[in-house]
Amino acid sequence: MIKKEFLCYALSLAILISLPYSVSFLNGKNLGRSELRMRRGINIGNALEAPKEGQWGVIIKDEYFKIIREAGFDTVRIPIRWSAHAGDKPPYRIDDEFFSRIDWVVNKSLEKGLITIINIHHYEELMEDPMGHRERFLSLWRQISNHYKDYPENLYFELLNEPHGRLTSKIWNDLLAEAIKIIRETNPTRKVIVGPTDWNSIDGLEELVVPEHDRNIIVTFHFYAPFEFTHQGAEWVSPSPPVGKKWLGTEAERKQITKLLDAAVQWSEKHGNIPLFLGEFGAYSKADMDSRVRWTYFVAREAEKRGIPWCYWEFCAGFGAYDPKENKWREPLLYALIPKPNKYFISAITDYGSISGTGWYDEGTYATIKLDRTATGFLVRNVFVFFDGLKPEDKIIDKGVIQVYVDGPREIRAVWRKDYTQLVLIMAAACIGCLLLLLLRRMSS
Ligand code: BGC
Repeated sequence: MIKKEFLCYALSLAILISLPYSVSFLNGKNLGRSELRMRRGINIGNALEAPKEGQWGVIIKDEYFKIIREAGFDTVRIPIRWSAHAGDKPPYRIDDEFFSRIDWVVNKSLEKGLITIINIHHYEELMEDPMGHRERFLSLWRQISNHYKDYPENLYFELLNEPHGRLTSKIWNDLLAEAIKIIRETNPTRKVIVGPTDWNSIDGLEELVVPEHDRNIIVTFHFYAPFEFTHQGAEWVSPSPPVGKKWLGTEAERKQITKLLDAAVQWSEKHGNIPLFLGEFGAYSKADMDSRVRWTYFVAREAEKRGIPWCYWEFCAGFGAYDPKENKWREPLLYALIPKPNKYFISAITDYGSISGTGWYDEGTYATIKLDRTATGFLVRNVFVFFDGLKPEDKIIDKGVIQVYVDGPREIRAVWRKDYTQLVLIMAAACIGCLLLLLLRRMSS
């Protein structure tokens, strides 16, 4: 009797101990979030996903890959509009010339040691009519995967950018499973990236179903929150969010971002720690540069803290971290993405007028921060009072001018007060005027 009871206890204990292992086994064995080789990447956008390369102002140049690699990125994502370069009818043949162009781009990128992601981008017809384009989409992947089957493992495939519209989660889950099956016939171990519907949003993850027991699947999501900030003035969005929205990095603003990223991590943990990839994030150039730097730095670091590799949107167009006319990096953005040791961002914020001198500075130097004026407004005047966030090492040069010592990231805020003197004086003068008028009338009647 006692023996039986003991056996029961021992068995229950064994089951309890092995529970976490069985869960991870049942969830499928995958790479795990920290095992990916990608870390920091950039999208070469607006080139090959335009209806024709060059039509959106970007033609990929040989030198770009060297520039990107030397800046410290290890990955590039190359959006491609295959659907504009393939037949409309079976067998939906991809143009040889277009394939050669992609080969050239992929080869140049791989030669520079960059992990290279190619995807299917802007397949709008598939979003509108998923059933009508199902076979064509699968045929594109059959051709692409067969074409690149002998390529090095640093070439990754991403199934489809931002599924949305009529391509619902149910249809997409089925289609992605079919596409992966086709790819696996010729590329059994290649990394395949797949993302949820709702434009690859984190919210869409809940409905995403990825094949179990495939160690080489990576799940991607895109990040543009808050949208009114990142897409202010974006011509392709209707209605376009108004320009002028700043991102100051307040607690509430930070929380909005960390909450979303945490939700992505939780989803991954629930699915056997499936690796995540932040495939696009960025703020359009119509936002002010300081806000873009703060936001970009924050998102990139928060992703890194969670073991999520990222790819900035994008290299040299509207969100560009690189200026193709000047042939140089926009350093504020580059350093936000790939921080330089001993270089720190000196941020300064004001509600009135403008402030200069913010940017990346070397440790041990001083940043001169200057307000362009110390009073604004007419009846109710805004009067500058002091700079908040100063340390004893900083120097006050003049009212509205300071030198901030660079010993780490610094955040200075101009504090203003409202001055009603002018308004009160004018109102008092008006009252006295009225009284005098009344008095004069009385006297003359
Ligand atoms: C789209 C781009 C767009 C970007 C930001 C990408 O997925 O393909 O056209 O600029 O998202 O909205």
